[in-house]
Amino acid sequence: MHKTLILGIESSCDDTSAAVIRDGVLLSNVTANQSVHERYGGVVPELASRAHQQNIIPVVDEAIKRAGIDKSELSAIAFTRGPGLLGSLLVGTSFAKGFSQALEIPLVDVNHLQAHVQAHFISQGQEGEKQPSFPFLCLLVSGGNSQIIVVRSHADMEVIGQTIDDAAGEAFDKCAKVMGLPYPGGPHIDRLAKTGDAKAFKFSKPQIPDYNYSFSGLKTSFLYLLRDEIKKNPDFVAEHLNDLCASLQETIVDILMKKLKQAAHDLKINQIAVAGGVSANSSLRKAFEENGKKLHWDVFIPPVEFTTDNAAMIAISGYFKFLNREFCDLKEVPYARVNNTF
Ligand code: KG4
Repeated sequence: MHKTLILGIESSCDDTSAAVIRDGVLLSNVTANQSVHERYGGVVPELASRAHQQNIIPVVDEAIKRAGIDKSELSAIAFTRGPGLLGSLLVGTSFAKGFSQALEIPLVDVNHLQAHVQAHFISQGQEGEKQPSFPFLCLLVSGGNSQIIVVRSHADMEVIGQTIDDAAGEAFDKCAKVMGLPYPGGPHIDRLAKTGDAKAFKFSKPQIPDYNYSFSGLKTSFLYLLRDEIKKNPDFVAEHLNDLCASLQETIVDILMKKLKQAAHDLKINQIAVAGGVSANSSLRKAFEENGKKLHWDVFIPPVEFTTDNAAMIAISGYFKFLNREFCDLKEVPYARVNNTF
């Protein structure tokens, strides 16, 4: 029987990743992280592009080897075309174009944000795997985005709410930075919050209409609290680190859940999913489970490895487009940003 084998390539930010999917089932997913950015407290685009250049061939080679296939068996190459850092995207895009030409197979372009949502459809070939049915709501929370998306099909996704300033991940990372924690700060806050008191500090919550989010007010109120308290006690952060992390985390999770609950109620949708790097957050995962029970939601939380940037989600997105024969022309170029409707 003919098999559809898709190689996915992800290079939108600071992770070089390649994955192979056979008929929707993941065979391999290899990611090279870039530690070079840690000392700068954020991703340095030029350094990211250079690291992608060094990583892309070994990462793709490893993904093909681990999948136990030969490159000549591939049906198509799927790649992240945007949004993301242009220099980084150019590396993956150029490689994908060259490889598809050499193998004489189709090229499929993938929207990185849609791919985060499609991560829910990655099968690992195990029994009892649960996938959302259409329509479902997806909260997409990453370093650059906080969106509520109505997902009507693999190709029909509508953004009904999004941040008007910072993303949830940015709020984690920026507040972590002022507390002197390494980049990216989200996982450190998550870890430290486990032994902190979430009610110790109160931070401002946004009052904005519709399903939109805002995190800049929270960031400012966090900054002002630290500034005022440090004046009185220079060791304030060190002495209250766990409580600060727990209170901040709870505020971010509350803000995210409030609009999501409103959207689910208004649209009468009870299939609720979460995606993106911030969905690795333990408190957000707990809030999903708890609200799921209380509000009779069917909750979908992806495995942590598919929440951060990875090529498995690019390969599965490419698989669905390949089945629809939606191919990408060689003249297409990467894009840094997208509009609201994808
Ligand atoms: O989707 P993602 O991997 O990539 C980009 O948006 O580029 O998301 C990265 C974001 C960062 O802001 C990081 O701090 C956050 O996800 N993050 C977390 C956790 N793990 C990753 N935030 C809170 N808690 C976590 N456990």
